[in-house]
Amino acid sequence: MPKAPDQTTNDLWHVVAATEELAIGLVETTLLLDRRIALTRGLDGEPVVWLASDEENGDEIDAETVLDRLPVRTAYGYTWTCLGTPSAELFPIPEYAEADRTNMSCGSIGIHVSAPRAVENFLDMGHFPYVHTDILGSEPHTEVKEYDVEVSEERDEVLATKCKFIQPMAAKSATGAMEVEYVYRVPHPFCSVLYKSCPEDESRRDVIGIFLQPMTEETCRAHLLQSMIDSYSTVTDLRRFQQTIFGQDKPILENQYPKKLPLDPRSETPIRADKSAIAYRRWLSQKGITYGVIPQAS
Ligand SMILES: [Fe+2]
Repeated sequence: MPKAPDQTTNDLWHVVAATEELAIGLVETTLLLDRRIALTRGLDGEPVVWLASDEENGDEIDAETVLDRLPVRTAYGYTWTCLGTPSAELFPIPEYAEADRTNMSCGSIGIHVSAPRAVENFLDMGHFPYVHTDILGSEPHTEVKEYDVEVSEERDEVLATKCKFIQPMAAKSATGAMEVEYVYRVPHPFCSVLYKSCPEDESRRDVIGIFLQPMTEETCRAHLLQSMIDSYSTVTDLRRFQQTIFGQDKPILENQYPKKLPLDPRSETPIRADKSAIAYRRWLSQKGITYGVIPQAS
């Protein structure tokens, strides 16, 4: 039997599907915190989520007949649910509502690693030249310059700012190498949102979100969001760019050992556990998260 998730994790909203990809009247099953859940959409297009019994993927169902439902909300193109008592609000991404942005889901990718490991990898710029060679980084520009990290008490999130990196092809819309500036937010233990210089409009930022669905303590699905300022590329091209990047991360993530994230900052080399990673680990500890991590010995 898997261990029960900690209270904080149990009460979080968790992403479970790209809403548009849920077929109306067909069942999709997946795992959330070791529980089998089932999803569909009603004729009104609204998602319905419940704890699965003997439903199988692809079964036909009338959503109206599902009486015992889990809480549901839709946000950023995704369906979110909760196995405990959810908070009223999900973290905000105000940019998503800006009319001239192209918002898209970029796929839901299963990864054999814990959700917090995937968040930490998302925060790490040091791997760009080696993993995303000639796209997000290239030698000799391998240095991660000093940046600022804080935990915002008010917004209850980790914030890394002034992260700068020279990138050969920062986005689909890039026409050459540029120094890009990143801001990372971790507004949810298993989600991160990145703001990066937009090649098309210097005054604005492209937004990329990674929302991890913790399936078990050592497996997750990464649901990717892009909210871009790009008047030239097609959605297909923008999606493909992000999928290429994430396809490069997947094998790296799956080779991580242990698959759960150790919260003791001394348990891994300081280079790997850099400033934002240390703040993220500490924040998880303070929240009492034990799911998908190796808690700090007390
Ligand atoms: Fe990466």
